[in-house]
Amino acid sequence: MTLLADTHVHLLAGLDDGPATEDVALAMCRMLVAEGAAHATALAHQNPGYPDNTPARMIATAAALSATLAAKKIPLTVYPTAEVMLSPTVVDDWKTGKLLSVGNHGQWLLVEMPHGEFVDALPVAEELRPFGLQLIIAHAERYPDLLHDRDRAAKWIAAGCLIQVTARAIADPWDDEMGRGIEGWARGGFIHLLGSDGHGIDRRQPLLAAGYRRLAKLAGRSTAKRIGSTWGSAVLRGEPVTVPPPHPPTRKWFGRMFGG
Ligand SMILES: [Fe+2]
Repeated sequence: MTLLADTHVHLLAGLDDGPATEDVALAMCRMLVAEGAAHATALAHQNPGYPDNTPARMIATAAALSATLAAKKIPLTVYPTAEVMLSPTVVDDWKTGKLLSVGNHGQWLLVEMPHGEFVDALPVAEELRPFGLQLIIAHAERYPDLLHDRDRAAKWIAAGCLIQVTARAIADPWDDEMGRGIEGWARGGFIHLLGSDGHGIDRRQPLLAAGYRRLAKLAGRSTAKRIGSTWGSAVLRGEPVTVPPPHPPTRKWFGRMFGG
């Protein structure tokens, strides 16, 4: 059985717009286990709306959750993580220790766009790479400027970024154009990680399994396994991950016909 890794789920009770209490966080963890997950971020936002979310606070809250999971024998390993909003100060914030990387391993920083904006992540990726830190683009399907621009996405990937897509958006896209974009990404090798972006139990539940199944249909089972399990758990555990470049948006028949 393939054990999935949720690389984007809000589990730090009371720290952001995710679960309000640890009981809700635990119910989410149980749901994740039922969805087939063995690894998950214990994640909260780091942005100006949550100034108290320091790395130390998030690490401590994740450790408490981890202890409760062990005591209750819920087979889910959680990793302290921040969802960092891109801002002009992100590089300085990293240098001064204000940001929490995925699993606190100092290898990957999970970033989202500022509300209602799209900014070029490439300069940030290039500035952080010498520090051994690479970017994960959170819920990347939300950004049409990325989803429908394969050249841009390929450049970001070449610069060391990983593309994370929300499982729910793969399983049941609520927008036709987004659905087509995700399909193209899945078939073209642009997706590297799966996240539920779960926030609660009554709303935005941590669902992974349906998205994983649909991904397997679109991209093939072995690719889906890499995305849903191998790469995801490696990122969370702090193991190295190298992804192949996406397939160029080629015209295969055209190439074959003309020897290109
Ligand atoms: Fe999120």
